[in-house]
Amino acid sequence: MSAFSRFTPLVASLPSTVPFVGPETIERQRGRPVAARIGANESGFGPAPSVLAAIREKAGEIWMYNDPENFALKSALAAHLGVPRETIAIGEGVDSLLGLIARMVIAPGAPVVTSFGGYPTFNFHVSGFGGRLVTTPYVDDREDLEGLLAAVHRENAPLVYLANPDNPMGSWWNADQVTAFARALPETCLLILDEAYCETAPAASVAPAGALLDLPNVIRTRTFSKAYGLAGARVGYAVGAADTIIAFDKIRNHFGMPRLSTVAALAALADQAYLAEVKGKIFDARDRIGEIARDNGLTPLASATNFVAIDCGRDGAHARAIVGGLMEHGVFIRMPGVAPLNRCIRISAGPPADMDLLAEALPKVLRVL
Ligand SMILES: Cc1ncc(COP(=O)(O)O)c(C=O)c1O
Repeated sequence: MSAFSRFTPLVASLPSTVPFVGPETIERQRGRPVAARIGANESGFGPAPSVLAAIREKAGEIWMYNDPENFALKSALAAHLGVPRETIAIGEGVDSLLGLIARMVIAPGAPVVTSFGGYPTFNFHVSGFGGRLVTTPYVDDREDLEGLLAAVHRENAPLVYLANPDNPMGSWWNADQVTAFARALPETCLLILDEAYCETAPAASVAPAGALLDLPNVIRTRTFSKAYGLAGARVGYAVGAADTIIAFDKIRNHFGMPRLSTVAALAALADQAYLAEVKGKIFDARDRIGEIARDNGLTPLASATNFVAIDCGRDGAHARAIVGGLMEHGVFIRMPGVAPLNRCIRISAGPPADMDLLAEALPKVLRVL
């Protein structure tokens, strides 16, 4: 049977790929359950007990649509971040917000600048909205601010993406360097500053939420998926100048935020003591991953995130064999997609039991490679 004939030329031209193969797919493909789910940068420490209690308490309200203005969550975030409510947009995870921003800015064929090997879901949205990706290489496993800026100028790009801290390498820039980068951009280029991992980053690497609000060409994105432990709830937010943020209202899915997800996010934000506790556990797990890597002759890279990239010292095929070998032991991890980053594997911080499984499986895997 042939496909429907009147898809747009763009959709007809796109491959039907997913940015990341999910652990569930891998389980189905291999017929083997995941025992240690430490590949998707979720938080195996889970959300706060107070969050679970709030979800349970409000579960009976699931028959109602959510408030399309997400007023309560915006108000709580505004108070927490010290910015006006009008500078915040809520979305179904950062991933959804990235798609909306791509849709706002990308005209057919528009050049969009990012790093070669940077966060793939952004690239997926750029392709999906008809943009043309322009990439600059990482330098010393960091996104190259000068290279990104030069590419923006060369291409007259309307959009540039920077993750700080970065996925997949876990590296970071200090806030003053990121701020200088933002201020050096032409005002015709929108910067997405993706701060999905800001909670686990050194304080000096994250500018205060209000610091760039005078720039109409900057949108910062954050999420409850990582340190707050709510990846399955899909709650992200964007912070930017009010006149820029209002553009989300033109195209977003106004009833897209699940009611219990905003309940969860509100409770999570209110429980900063739990966040502090989890951050400590993430830092311990990062140390443990580093130790396990070194014990096996591998080199962990410094990380500002809830995962650690580990240099395995050889090429992508070798790293891929380690990822596959660990999965044979039920340990799900991931790796960067392109060279030279793909000499690394990437392991998410997880509870001690998951770290024990990793410590047990890794030497067995390396022994037979
Ligand atoms: C840099 C970066 N941005 C965004 C996301 C996705 O965030 P969310 O779960 O809010 O869609 C991730 C998740 O891995 C990420 O690494």
